[in-house]
Amino acid sequence: MNTGLDAKVVVITGGASGQGLAATELFAAEGAKVIVADWNEAGAQAQAKALQDKGADAIAVGVDVADESAVKGMIDAAVSRFGRLDVLFNNAGVGFSSTNRFKMANVVETPVADWDAIIAINLKGPALGCKFALPVMAEQGAGVIINNASINGLVALSGADAYTASKGGVVALTRVMAADWGPKGIRVNCICPGGVDTPMINQALVDDAARAAAGAGNPLRRIAQPSEIASVAVFLASDAASYVNGVIIPVDGGATAI
Ligand SMILES: NC(=O)c1ccc[n+]([C@@H]2O[C@H](COP(=O)([O-])OP(=O)(O)OC[C@H]3O[C@@H](n4cnc5c(N)ncnc54)[C@H](O)[C@@H]3O)[C@@H](O)[C@H]2O)c1
Repeated sequence: MNTGLDAKVVVITGGASGQGLAATELFAAEGAKVIVADWNEAGAQAQAKALQDKGADAIAVGVDVADESAVKGMIDAAVSRFGRLDVLFNNAGVGFSSTNRFKMANVVETPVADWDAIIAINLKGPALGCKFALPVMAEQGAGVIINNASINGLVALSGADAYTASKGGVVALTRVMAADWGPKGIRVNCICPGGVDTPMINQALVDDAARAAAGAGNPLRRIAQPSEIASVAVFLASDAASYVNGVIIPVDGGATAI
């Protein structure tokens, strides 16, 4: 498949870890110029260096996706370094965690500060990315936005109310932006992963039994590897998906089919 991604400029938030990191690898392998954006700036720098060492054109940007001026700086950095912006993968997210900051909790038990932070990062974050990316793409007459939501934007994750609500918001935001920006040549789509083997859930998957249990609820009987989500992002960004717009794609081993 010719993806048409050679020399395309791709911003990936949350690019220092997990699915975002896998996406930086796959887009770079397609010849794309990659902006590794993360609030873990050292991790973003390390990943940009790793890509450069493989011959890719990559830079790192430290960004909190919930911070308007930092997100503007991220998009400005892409345009000033590479002259254009072709793809924004809004991937950074928090809240699907049983032990870390922003612990999963129901609406009664969620501290208001956590509610605000999870919504700010998971929902406002993608909106801010689009706020600054869409005008650049509209000026070019082309561009692709990919949002990373979750199957919990489609079905409830009991006891993770802010996370579930934030991801439902990302699904709805995808649809309205696809409707509004399609006429400008911009496609907006959304990936809804099931369980993925990344640091976000790994602290809960302490042994093989926990890992097997996490995958047991879907027909493939396993959780995904990060590259299995990143490859869908590459497809959505590619010329092969040139008529795909406004879709919400579960990438969940069939979990939401049953
Ligand atoms: N792992 C799963 O099972 C799973 C399932 C469905 C959806 N998701 C979603 O996939 C996306 C990627 O998660 P992952 O599994 O790769 O997790 P991860 O924790 O490995 O990676 C998330 C990355 O986002 C960065 N990040 C978090 N908040 C940020 C912020 N405010 N600004 C900038 N960067 C920030 C982190 O530093 C990290 O590098 C998230 O949106 C997550 O909600 C994950």
